Formats: sequence, structure tokens, C-alpha cells
Amino acid sequence: MQISVLAARVLLSVCAVLAALAAAPAWAQGPIVIKFSHVTAPDTPKGMAAERFKELAERMTNGQVRVEVYPNSQLYKDREELEALQLGAVQMLAPSLAKFSPLGVKEFEAFDLPYIFPDKAALYKVTEGRIGADLLRKLEPKGITGLAFWDNGFKIMSANKPLLAPRDFGGLRMRIQASKVLDAQMRALGARPQVLAFSEAAPALRDGVVEGTENTPSNMYTQRMHETQSHLTVSNHGYLGYAVIVNRKFWNGLPGGIRATLARAMREATAYEKTIAQRANDEAMEQIRAAGTTTIHTLSPAQQAEWRRAMLPVVGQMENRIGKDTVRAILREVGR
Ligand code: LMR
Repeated sequence: MQISVLAARVLLSVCAVLAALAAAPAWAQGPIVIKFSHVTAPDTPKGMAAERFKELAERMTNGQVRVEVYPNSQLYKDREELEALQLGAVQMLAPSLAKFSPLGVKEFEAFDLPYIFPDKAALYKVTEGRIGADLLRKLEPKGITGLAFWDNGFKIMSANKPLLAPRDFGGLRMRIQASKVLDAQMRALGARPQVLAFSEAAPALRDGVVEGTENTPSNMYTQRMHETQSHLTVSNHGYLGYAVIVNRKFWNGLPGGIRATLARAMREATAYEKTIAQRANDEAMEQIRAAGTTTIHTLSPAQQAEWRRAMLPVVGQMENRIGKDTVRAILREVGR
């Protein structure tokens, strides 16, 4: 008799614990895990800032949050990572601004317009001001919350021949990111653009599937693209940057205090990112130079003017696709 009373009590307390566990939110049962997937190498501005966010988030939440960073397309390639985020298979990404149109948010392609930002100061006016905030809000109906803009830098062009004038691009197969504006830009130069995921770009250059590309020095160097591209032009014709985004349901489901702490960690990681982006690109240019694999060309003012003339019509061509209001607001903000 005594044993069965005891057994009943044990059973009751087991049930009570199980019920409490079932009623408790998932985060109460262990650390909240944020899978942060991205496509670049760990030693790029994005890779280093993702690691900094991890450190800050884990420290500031006293281990209540664990951030797992997956670089180098280890988990997903460009397009798949956006789908994975929407499905909740990962919680955080930082795709380049050129990759948002598959979500149906074409306004982000404004950042791909050639020669739209005269310098980083002009760019920050956009990303850190009202236009940037409005753009991030456009992601909400897609189940995504935008947390920050991260920087990379201005792009250079590469191929296995000197690219000094628009005519040098004639017929060249150029790898681009999945942006219609970049497609139009390459066509304006007479090239044949080919969309490839970032993880496929370096192998495609090596195997001759494409003949050239554009990217930032840090991306080119960390993917060893310079080893198979004999010429590079410092053209600074366009910008490459990121939006750090989270699954909206996940973000809104976090306990308020944790969400606020993570937002603070993100602000600090973002400030850090801005301090390293340009340096990483400058160092990458030096490393490419030192590798001796690639001739580096700098355009004369006359050559620059010719590149601009060839590419500027893209702004008018793409205005309707991107949204006239967005393009004009950016042009006004940067004083163009
Ligand atoms: C690219 O695909 O070239 C870039 O978007 C990669 C990146 O994330 O910087």
C-alpha cells in the first residue's frame, strides 16, 4: 500500500514537471540557438562581424543565447539561404543587397546602380537614415525583420585581359549576383552576364565557365579569384553591402529582454563592421598585389568618364523596376 502511494506521488511529480516543461516556452529549456548562415569566408568583413555578434550576443545574454555561425555557404547557397530563413531552418543571414529581389523586394537593387554613391559617407546617409529604415520595413510582409546594414565596399572588375574601356567587355561572360540591375550594367558594357551563386563563382572562373567578374577586393582575395584572373581594374563602379536579417516570427517570439539585448549586440557588431570593411578591402588589394598573379589597372580620369557614360543609362532603364520613388529619394539624399 505504502509503495503504491509513493509510486503515485512520484508519478504525479513527474507529470507536473512534464506539464511545466510543455507549458514553458522553448527558450526556457536551454539556450536559444541562432543559426547564422552566410556565404563568404570567415576572414571577410561579414565573416568577422558575424563572429563579433556571436561573442557579444553570448556574453551579453550570459549564455542564454548561443549563436552558431556557418560561413562559406556551408549550410546554404545564396538563394537557398533566403528560403531557409523564411522556413525557420536558420534564424539569421546577411545577404548582399543585390540578392533581395527573389523575395519580391526589388527596391534593394537600387544599391547595385552604377556610380550611384560618390563615397561611403553618401552611402551611410542612405543606409543609416530614413531610406534605409523604410527599405528594411519592406521585408516584414515577407516574414523577415531587417536588423542592420553591414558594409563591404566598392567593386573592382577582373578578367584575363585588361579591362580599360567599355569595348574591352565585348562578349565577355561575366559572373554577376542575381540582380537585374547588375545584368543591365554588364549588358551596357557589351558583356554577357551570367548569374552564379557566390560559392560557384571562383570554380567557374577557374574552369573558364565565365571569363570575368566584379566583386570587392576582400571577396576576390578570400576566394582566391586573383589566382585565375590575370587582370583587375580598380573601377569602384558600384557598391556591395549587406542587410542583416532575421526570421520575423523567431525574433518576435523572443522574450523582450533578450530581444533588446540582441539588438544592442547587433548595434555594436555593426559599428565594429564599419570600422573593418574598408581596411579588409585595402589589405586584400595589397595581398593581391603581393601575390604577383594579377596586373592591377587604375583608370585615368578620361577612362573613368568613358565607363560612367557607358553605364549611367542603367539608372534610367532600371528606375521603373526598382521603384522611381526609391531611386529618386536615394539620388536626392546623396546629392546626385
Ligand atoms: C557575391 O555573391 O558576390 C557576394 O554577394 C558575396 C557576399 O556575400 O559578399
